[in-house]
Amino acid sequence: MCGIVGYVGKQKAAPLILEGLKRLEYRGYDSAGVAVWQDGHFEVAKKTGRVANLEKEAARHKLVGSAGIGHTRWATHGGVTDANAHPHLSSDGQIALIHNGVIENYVSMKKFLLAKDYTFKSETDTEVLCNLIAYHYAKEPAVAGESRLLESVRKTLRHVEGTYGIVVMALDLPEELVTARKGSPLILGLGEGENLVASDVAAIVSRTQNVVYLKDGEIARLTPKNFAISTLDEADITPVIDKVNWSIADAEMGEYAHFMEKEIFEQPVALENAMRGRFSEDGSTAQFGGLNITPGEFRGIERFMFCACGTALHACMVTEHLIENFARIPVECDYASEFRYRNTPLFRNTLFFVMSQSGETIDTLAALREAKRKGYKVLAVNNVVGSTIAREADGGIYQHVGPEVGVASTKAFTSQLLIGAMLALYIGRMRDLSFGAGVRYVNALKGAPDLVRQVLKQAPHIRTIARRYAHHTDMLFLGRLSLFPIALEGALKLKEISYLHAEGYPAAEMKHGPIALISEKCPSVFLAPKGEIFNKIVSSMQEIKARKGPIIAIVTEGAELPPGLADEIITIPECHEAVLPIVASIPVQLLSYYIAVERGCDVDKPRNLAKSVTVE
Ligand code: F6R
Repeated sequence: MCGIVGYVGKQKAAPLILEGLKRLEYRGYDSAGVAVWQDGHFEVAKKTGRVANLEKEAARHKLVGSAGIGHTRWATHGGVTDANAHPHLSSDGQIALIHNGVIENYVSMKKFLLAKDYTFKSETDTEVLCNLIAYHYAKEPAVAGESRLLESVRKTLRHVEGTYGIVVMALDLPEELVTARKGSPLILGLGEGENLVASDVAAIVSRTQNVVYLKDGEIARLTPKNFAISTLDEADITPVIDKVNWSIADAEMGEYAHFMEKEIFEQPVALENAMRGRFSEDGSTAQFGGLNITPGEFRGIERFMFCACGTALHACMVTEHLIENFARIPVECDYASEFRYRNTPLFRNTLFFVMSQSGETIDTLAALREAKRKGYKVLAVNNVVGSTIAREADGGIYQHVGPEVGVASTKAFTSQLLIGAMLALYIGRMRDLSFGAGVRYVNALKGAPDLVRQVLKQAPHIRTIARRYAHHTDMLFLGRLSLFPIALEGALKLKEISYLHAEGYPAAEMKHGPIALISEKCPSVFLAPKGEIFNKIVSSMQEIKARKGPIIAIVTEGAELPPGLADEIITIPECHEAVLPIVASIPVQLLSYYIAVERGCDVDKPRNLAKSVTVE
């Protein structure tokens, strides 16, 4: 969840590291720090709060060295203080370390180190790890042609229980970084006369597009001109160099006030990218390149299981609805965090899917591993190329929507909805969905970006509505069938970026409890598209209105509501069932966004959150 950047080369390291940290700030923003090797010592600047605070602090330190490490923190062990910010130095001053993850056995390590007179300035598990490396480093003999630092990090990590992505420097090795991972992503960036390491491509893409994704259990040594990868068991690894297929402009905000706003408005293009090349030539079904499972095998699947967290789980729930409806195969969805500990009975011929924008969410990864351990094939829907989930899955579908920087997921969500809809079509066409129905379905999906464009035009209207409701403290989101997960998503979006209490419910379920919340102070957002249960949803609105609850209704263009029933109306175009959840997501995203803006919230970096949750 924390952000990591390391640089070794000929340039001044600090400005490059600070630039990288700014791009990683969405990963964690409790505090940030940088350490640079210069004039025979580590010059360290750390500050609680945003990278902007660190920049001011770094200016005071006059950081001129050309090798260094930097970190943005999302606190796990120890409060948000300057002392707990990374980098940490060992008490003998020999080792500097940044760390993402959790060292579970740090208490026993600390006891061992205290007995050896190592001292500690922070409450973190990271400082313990740093001192343990220093302990091994001090004992490590210098052997010609071998890296003392690499060997001592290797020795230390053999004792570690937990997860880590680390970058380490030693005081007497000014041109060397050692980095290792287990459970936390790390990417090497290979430049001209310089090498970098980061937890995320965004931090290094301005310097190089040539990257190596480090795997769990691997350790690497970087110098300005070389890099070498091996395992903790000392086996050499032949690196696979990948090319990043997006540029720095993709990760910049441009004319928008927030990344979330940019990513909401980017959705038509994101959807086009996610569907490009994925329809069959006859225009009646979807096709995917990387499933690694034959149509015949797919045909034999009798059940699907989807696991994910947060917003991605809502996308799975919509997918469940569409697969069951169009392919007539039972689907189960579960929170990845629950599945991993539940002893769920799984049927034979079940195909397992995980969905994850980042591909690094630890609970989703653990669910994937649990399913694989039980002998199931696991496919992944994932946005970040080369992520751990993408690599560990047996196959999958990339979302292809470019980097999502806003902590609140938007374009990644609608592209997951699109891919879910395409999967339902693909499986449906293997079963009972006719050619004609397939063609209509494909055409509907192709039309989705334009429908989203139409809804986005209502942004000023939705902003006006947001102004009227921004001061409320509670809000309900109500929907049915495939729009129930969109109600959940609306409530999640609002909660996370505006700190307003919101709940999502199936509209008809509201009278079994939540109706007690209704008063003129608790508005309800109804997702009420045209369809066979429109009148039932109108009845639910009447029940709210009878209790003086304000109503914001999202309805199909031309829908007739009883006069005076809705206080606010937002319209969406009429559309195919597979496209409806995508189109209906736009008003709830915009509403949440504008409410958060009205409330003066830090939309892209909501309190207590981080973009990719790599701890349990
Ligand atoms: C909410 C949000 C989170 C993520 C969740 C899973 O806006 O972004 O709920 O959806 O943390 O993240 P990924 O998809 O990266 O596994």
